[in-house]
Amino acid sequence: MLIILTGFMGVGKTTVGRILANKLGVPFVDMDYYIEARQGQTIAEIFDQIGESGFRLIEYQVLRELLEAEENGRMVISTGGGIVETTECRQLLVQQDQVFYLQDTFETSWQRINRGGLIQNDRPLVNANSKKQMAAKYERRIPLYEEASNYRLDVRRMAAHETAEVIRKMC
Ligand code: S3P
Repeated sequence: MLIILTGFMGVGKTTVGRILANKLGVPFVDMDYYIEARQGQTIAEIFDQIGESGFRLIEYQVLRELLEAEENGRMVISTGGGIVETTECRQLLVQQDQVFYLQDTFETSWQRINRGGLIQNDRPLVNANSKKQMAAKYERRIPLYEEASNYRLDVRRMAAHETAEVIRKMC
């Protein structure tokens, strides 16, 4: 059984994924952490060195690797918020049965990712874009998340453990 979580930055994919995997007793993979360990660099360093397009290529390769590895087991994967930017990733995701799009408001996501306007944010896109640009990205991605996932969960006012429980019951 493979459960994949998608959604915008700051929606809580990693927290929900960790709780869910724990409940199900299956491995949990957070794609950003996986990429950092695989590359020996932080996401910010990868963006610095090879840009967003280079990062997207790695992200695609990693998604493929994980889907191939999953054939032998069960897993919960939380993806990076921009995975749906890549056509090839969306094509891989639509072939899966349990892809959940976690959706909250842009304001809530922004409050979490902006971190009070820290100068060095560990999300390079937050450093490089204004709030208005991030809001536009959020809007532009909505149909992409919808295209790539089987279920959309409105997680406004839901605690991470509640979201995990809803998903567990659906699987
Ligand atoms: C990104 C989201 C991040 C990370 C990278 C790019 C995006 O993951 O992959 O900074 O384009 O939305 P999270 O959604 O886990 O923050």
